[in-house]
Amino acid sequence: MALLRIYETPDPMLRQISTPVETVDDELRALIKDMFETMYEAPGIGLAAVQVGVPKRLLVMDLQEPSDPADENSPPVKLPRVFINPEIVSHSDSEVPYTEGCLSVPDQYAEVMRPDHVRARWLDEHGKSHEEDLDDLLAICLQHEMDHLEGVLFIDHLSKLKRDMVLKKLAKARKERGSRAA
Ligand code: NI
Repeated sequence: MALLRIYETPDPMLRQISTPVETVDDELRALIKDMFETMYEAPGIGLAAVQVGVPKRLLVMDLQEPSDPADENSPPVKLPRVFINPEIVSHSDSEVPYTEGCLSVPDQYAEVMRPDHVRARWLDEHGKSHEEDLDDLLAICLQHEMDHLEGVLFIDHLSKLKRDMVLKKLAKARKERGSRAA
């Protein structure tokens, strides 16, 4: 297992269109393991392969929800999910706002509107096909990660004004981080 480098905006890697996975084999499963390790360490709830420099249609997610839904400080239960060659079959007309972040746009958050219900199809890490209805955070997170496969970041859904604000804050945070390290 290994921690992988997470590419950050504006790296052109993140703008690549990911290509379909052709074989689900041990090599791919090793990458999936490393992606989970990298995502948990970050920490984040979703990671697309292109974010670690592999432009293939593969993503991992774990919402890391609290073990006791009534107590948000209870230790999270791990529920790793793998999506290979995911497709949205249909989605709700209704959209909900959700404050999104992204490991490739570190520490920046902004509200994005997306359908809160999707029907999706994908392969798992054993090459088995699934088709399921997904709701709420799971649906939103899947759409965010699937955007990465098209070279799209959540900030692309914002108005130019808001996007510029986020990018300015990101540049400022990087500068401060740099001067602290120096
Ligand atoms: Ni992201």
